[in-house]
Amino acid sequence: MTGTTTKRIYLSPPHMGPAERGLLLDAFDSNWIAPLGPHVDAFEREFCHTVGVPHAAALSSGTAALHLALLMLGVGPGDEVLVSTFTFAATANAVAYLGAKPVFIDSDRETWNMDPGLLEEELAGCARRGKLPKAVIAVDLYGQCADYDRILAACGRYGVPLVEDAAEALGATYKGKPAGSFGAAAAFSFNGNKIITTSGGGMLVSTDAGLVERARNLSQQARDPAPHYQHSTIGYNYRMSNLLAAVGRGQLRVLEDRVSRKREIFRYYMSTLGGVPGLSFMPEAGYGCSNRWLTCILINSPRFGATREDIRLALERENIESRPPWKPMHLQPVFKECRIRGGPVSEELFERGLCLPSGTALRDADLERIAGVVRNVHGGV
Ligand SMILES: Cc1ncc(COP(=O)(O)O)c(C=O)c1O
Repeated sequence: MTGTTTKRIYLSPPHMGPAERGLLLDAFDSNWIAPLGPHVDAFEREFCHTVGVPHAAALSSGTAALHLALLMLGVGPGDEVLVSTFTFAATANAVAYLGAKPVFIDSDRETWNMDPGLLEEELAGCARRGKLPKAVIAVDLYGQCADYDRILAACGRYGVPLVEDAAEALGATYKGKPAGSFGAAAAFSFNGNKIITTSGGGMLVSTDAGLVERARNLSQQARDPAPHYQHSTIGYNYRMSNLLAAVGRGQLRVLEDRVSRKREIFRYYMSTLGGVPGLSFMPEAGYGCSNRWLTCILINSPRFGATREDIRLALERENIESRPPWKPMHLQPVFKECRIRGGPVSEELFERGLCLPSGTALRDADLERIAGVVRNVHGGV
């Protein structure tokens, strides 16, 4: 059967249940149709409990959470911020919004996340030049935490605060601690493709009550405490809608199931494709448990007998979506003037990698179909 007659399989579509529907209708019926309301407050409380961090602000996106985190750390025009190069553009865009410059750090081959050795080298270089960065943003790529002991040690030596971009990593752990509980602040995303979603949305979390309080105020146009509209600071319209917070609360209740299913999907691919020559998987570091948001494979073309693009196109012909991993930020035209420490590791991962469909509602028959297409490309079809 060809792809035109089969239902399209997406990379990581939303997966909703009856709890989400019930809570959304409750929000609707209560007439709290605004970027404030009881579901927003409850979502923040419940999220804090899940991530083990005492303070949270529910926002309109993960990008808004990153922007406000950096603003709270005092990042401004002319500053530098060290950022994982192997990430989605939102991480670096948040730096640019503040007139600061991202400086990119390559990945570690074992984790695909920011290489702590290169971070240390870059911080030492900055110290020698007499200009330390204002912050470091480490990304928890595809649901795997970066190596926080080593990253925090390096940041601590130079007194530079850390922001964790945990947009993809809700439900993952590092040495038993939840993703998002490291550093001065962390950002999560509830975009439509994430492990739980509110269609669009984000959360800023921190152990610092003042930081979250100020960010929450800025997310609501920075109103001063007065009966009339008074403003002493420039604010933003970044608060999460009560309707979407209701959906988020329902999704949070099934987070554990979603992580289990994502990991099961990874294990399925591993068991059926793991023996194919020239095909390997994103490694899981011994220090933690990834949520396996997306299963990523790496293709060694000479051994596999085809490229990752051949696989992507074969899947597309069967109406199955797959994607190359993030194109490193130092290769992006918009950031071409920015400094990069290292580079070859993420460049190679980008050239050889492919993210396979990893939606938690995928049926076993779908997974068999996907794996069959990949295997056939190896077979020389
Ligand atoms: C690593 C990373 N950072 C930030 C974001 C931005 O989140 P949002 O789309 O909610 O703004 C995303 C995903 O979209 C992401 O994958």
